[in-house]
Amino acid sequence: MARYKIAWLPGDGIGVDVLNAAKIVLDKIHLDAEYIHGDIGWEFWCKEGDAFPQRTIDLLKNVDAVMFGAITSKPMKAAQTELIPQLQTKGLMYRSPIVRMRQMFDLYNCLRPCKAYPGNPLNFKEGIDLVVFRENTEDLYAGVEFAPPPQELVDILSKISKPFAPFAKLPVDQYAISCKINTKTGSERIVKAAFDFARTFKRKKVTIVHKANVVRASDGLFLEVAKDVAKQYPEIQTDDANIDAMTMWLLKNPFHYDVLVAPNLYGDIISDLCAQMVGGLGFGCSGNIGTKLAVFEPTHGSAPKYAGQYKVNPIATILALKMMLDWLGEAEKSVRLENAVATVIKEGNMRTYDMGGNASTLDMAKAIAEKI
Ligand code: IPM
Ligand code: MG
Repeated sequence: MARYKIAWLPGDGIGVDVLNAAKIVLDKIHLDAEYIHGDIGWEFWCKEGDAFPQRTIDLLKNVDAVMFGAITSKPMKAAQTELIPQLQTKGLMYRSPIVRMRQMFDLYNCLRPCKAYPGNPLNFKEGIDLVVFRENTEDLYAGVEFAPPPQELVDILSKISKPFAPFAKLPVDQYAISCKINTKTGSERIVKAAFDFARTFKRKKVTIVHKANVVRASDGLFLEVAKDVAKQYPEIQTDDANIDAMTMWLLKNPFHYDVLVAPNLYGDIISDLCAQMVGGLGFGCSGNIGTKLAVFEPTHGSAPKYAGQYKVNPIATILALKMMLDWLGEAEKSVRLENAVATVIKEGNMRTYDMGGNASTLDMAKAIAEKI
């Protein structure tokens, strides 16, 4: 029996291309693992009314880690009309499978390292090395949303919230409510994860990202909890910044920052910015880490227009593989893999289209595999 069970979820669009590329690299690294395919993606929404079917959920209960590609999601109207006719009258709601997976398996830590590998022509500046810790289960992603808001909710908000008064006057089909829910436990564990990482890897600074000057309740709570946690790590410099200012300062001087920690939505935003500074979509990798399970993915989407063309850069996915090896405790293999990626980037003979070349997805993967 193989040492590890890995669920293999390509999804759709270029998710399939990049996971096929990742497999070439994995085969070379000889991980003692069994890879089990799982159904997930737009096709299963259309056919079964569920993009993340129960059989795939069950599979995830019995594996050590998951490699995930990408999934197409479409606005509400298209989601309804593309269902098979038998399902169209059922009032099914589409919810992003990756968001569901993160919540269902309590994958609270969204870890997004953004490192400028030397020689990458897409680097914003050489030497950038940022690590984003994004809370992954709550905040505006909680899914507590109302469109239109039910009368009971309108009544209670009218009674207890002064700022709600102007909205209460509107007909309910004229507005929508999304709840931002941040808990003490949820905030504490992500901030701890960021500081533990900083301590283990001797990083200098942790920056807490928020908007507590305006979103006083939920971001206020996050900031307060984060500052409390920081006290347990006196050797690590701590600061905090509002999300808007943070985007400017990061561009102005990325070298002032090191480890960043943020609630879910700000983490989503800031991690795209950081990924762009180290090469963009082809380089952003992501780990969704819980206590029992972890799911690794490229941060990019499914880019349906490129699906099956084997054109996109697989490096984001290959770096996600490296993160998976770290999670499994395969440190030596992880270092070999990262060195291979760094060498191929530095040598500059292999460039996918985003990097200004015409190497295919699989060419890039093979070049990396050769250096392992
Ligand atoms: C990400 C993505 C997802 C998110 C989408 C695809 C639901 O943007 O992983 O950053 O918003 O979390
Ligand atoms: Mg995102």
